[in-house]
Amino acid sequence: MRGKLAALAVSTAMLPAFAAGAAELNLICAADVVVCEKLVSAFEAEHSDISVNMVRLSSGETYAKIRAEARNPQTDLWWGGTGDPHLQAAADGLTAVYESPRMSELHDWALKQAEVSGNRTVGVYSGALGWGYNTKIFEEKGLKEPACWSDLLDPALKGEIQIADPNSSGTAYTALATLVQLMGEDEAFEYLKALHANISQYTKSGSAPVKAAARGEAGLGIVFMHDAVAQSVEGFPIKTIAPCEGTGFEVGSMSIIENAQNPDEAKIFYDWVLSAEVQNLMPEAGSFQLPSNKAAVASEHVPDMSQIKLIDYDFAEFGSAERRQALLARWDKEIGGRAAD
Ligand code: F6P
Repeated sequence: MRGKLAALAVSTAMLPAFAAGAAELNLICAADVVVCEKLVSAFEAEHSDISVNMVRLSSGETYAKIRAEARNPQTDLWWGGTGDPHLQAAADGLTAVYESPRMSELHDWALKQAEVSGNRTVGVYSGALGWGYNTKIFEEKGLKEPACWSDLLDPALKGEIQIADPNSSGTAYTALATLVQLMGEDEAFEYLKALHANISQYTKSGSAPVKAAARGEAGLGIVFMHDAVAQSVEGFPIKTIAPCEGTGFEVGSMSIIENAQNPDEAKIFYDWVLSAEVQNLMPEAGSFQLPSNKAAVASEHVPDMSQIKLIDYDFAEFGSAERRQALLARWDKEIGGRAAD
């Protein structure tokens, strides 16, 4: 026995220092994987004592995971993804109260998320909803440029459109909530039923539809405009449209998980990622949202919000648990449950 204990003592002493006390951060990143990886590698380069375990999930998927883990959180920090599920998580008490020393550096629209949630979440970027279409496909098929939501119902677009599933995707939930706010709930569901005839696929991730359009697998993807722009910047024949009737927008957000295992590391990343310097890295990863830090420089590719007819999106209402659950349940019953026409 004494021999065994001695051996144990020797082997522990021989462990490299970092293995014994390595600090960790378990991060869910709910934006595009390229910017997620960019942020993680920049953070680790500056904070070599903290190792980040990152997974990329869509916004609604993240909410479901955080909720499922509530009694034994495996995640410390949730960066990115649309604001509505962050607000729902805040209302459920799944995320922690935190006020970063950088709050004074942020735009009012980013602070509004904090205000509505009692400081359980904060805005990190913003972007408007629209679509991107493949100009080559449209030209070849003789299709007319769709400028308005109503144009997407054109029977000539049958099988040409993709949008994500609002259960997994924050983008698609933003689209659902936008249509409800633009038209009224019953009218929005009538619209979605009619649109269903033109949909070839409901994807899991919000930006997948325009990536499919860029590859020529679909004619048009209903997505955030910055995700469409990212494809044209990459050289694909994608044109970005802001709907003529008006459109909604996201306030991409960030939250620390309640009872996180690594709250100190979560706060270090939180404060770091809110800085102008770090937000300035995002366009280098093809991420063209409007940054939340007032001193960050918006890339020339960021869609100009002043040129887009924006609705007064009610984040408190559409981020509330009751409204989000009810809308998703109705979508499942009336839209998601229908076989493709
Ligand atoms: O691709 C980036 C992005 O559009 C973010 O702006 C947004 O918060 C997120 O993806 C939404 O992703 P999803 O719809 O998959 O939840």
